[in-house]
Amino acid sequence: MITPIAGFSKLSKNEKIEWLASTYFQNNTTVVDTLQKYWNSDETLQKLHDEFIENTISNFYLPLGIAPNFLINDELYAIPMAIEESSVVAAASKAAKFWIDRGGFKATVINTEKVGQVHFMYFGSTEKLHTYFSSIKAELIASTKHITQNMEKRGGGITDIELRDKTAALDGYFQLHCTFETVDSMGANFINSCLEQFAKTFKENAQTFDIFSEQEKDIQIVMSILSNYVPNCLVKAEVSCPVSSLTESETMDANEFAAKFVRAIQIAKTEPYRAVTHNKGIMNGIDAVVLATGNDFRAVEAGIHAYAAKDGRYSSLTHAELNDGIFKFWIEIPLSLGTVGGLTSLHPLVKLALEMLGKPNAKELMQIVAVAGLAQNFAAVRSLTTTGIQKGHMKMHLVNILNQLKATEAEKKHFIAFFKDKTVTHSAVVNAFNTYKIGQA
Ligand code: MEV
Repeated sequence: MITPIAGFSKLSKNEKIEWLASTYFQNNTTVVDTLQKYWNSDETLQKLHDEFIENTISNFYLPLGIAPNFLINDELYAIPMAIEESSVVAAASKAAKFWIDRGGFKATVINTEKVGQVHFMYFGSTEKLHTYFSSIKAELIASTKHITQNMEKRGGGITDIELRDKTAALDGYFQLHCTFETVDSMGANFINSCLEQFAKTFKENAQTFDIFSEQEKDIQIVMSILSNYVPNCLVKAEVSCPVSSLTESETMDANEFAAKFVRAIQIAKTEPYRAVTHNKGIMNGIDAVVLATGNDFRAVEAGIHAYAAKDGRYSSLTHAELNDGIFKFWIEIPLSLGTVGGLTSLHPLVKLALEMLGKPNAKELMQIVAVAGLAQNFAAVRSLTTTGIQKGHMKMHLVNILNQLKATEAEKKHFIAFFKDKTVTHSAVVNAFNTYKIGQA
């Protein structure tokens, strides 16, 4: 029976590992060895990583790959991608190469509005609350001057505060719905600090607002927090070309391919089961770049999926059409990203990734990330509607299976050549490998 541990965070890293190994594992030495293998020999670098979070015991690697040849708004990029799924970078690279000969990707930022809300309860006259809000709005903004000064110098700040009556949904529930421009930072800390100040000022000043009754003065702040739903922080990326140029399909002609591709997008628009997988493929590209550039992929995921359901049903994030012989394929997504603040100047690989992208500002990064999502979706839907997904996917996965089988480098080389013109399945690889081993014995 395991007993709870008190004061765990105060233990040293070695003490934490010792406790973990002796409490949850049979073989203590293997646990310690495995964890230590992933420590960085550069102590300063290791300390930096240790201090990102609490209770760090080791580092967790993900491969960092690059997808070159991305032509975006006439600039050529190599896109950094941090991801474990074997076929993602290969698919992105393939899509980049396909579109480089067809004019590349065009991307535009539509808007950059961020959102935060103070959620509060008020049981009294709605009219008086509106009067109070009008009288206090300027003071709310003024009370955050110490927070907003620097952001204003960079061209950002608070753009508006609205009082929203949500009592139809929940008795007594109102909000201060606030919008912000955070320029090149994602802005979470800035927004949350402003919101907490708004809440304090809003509650305190209510005490002396003459026309409120004693009960109305008692505004109950529930919470103050940014929203990761940013439907007005939008970016669009697109590709287009004459249908006749879509010639790379292996099993059908350009017209058939274009029609089938558009059909696949229509299916993802109408069928949520398909839309979720369709969008998951888009997120393969988006998350990988968001992670490599030190941004908050959970925030991005939450915001994008909410946007995919904005019309009341979960739907495709990409769109396609055929018009006058032109194939057009595009994505429109909300993306709240930063290229300053957070991990961007702290994590050496994030710094490198941003430098590789030409030190983009937040808007440029939004464009690059949206393109990565579109490219990934193009690659997936193209495979799905032509060869099927498994051909390319299993080819990339072959090395993982061989590694599981503990194949040597020479054996890996042999089996990659062996499977060049064969269908890769897990059992086919295991059988071929075992037969080979018996032959060698
Ligand atoms: C796999 O990670 C992603 C796909 O399933 C996406 C899709 O089906 O569009 C291939």
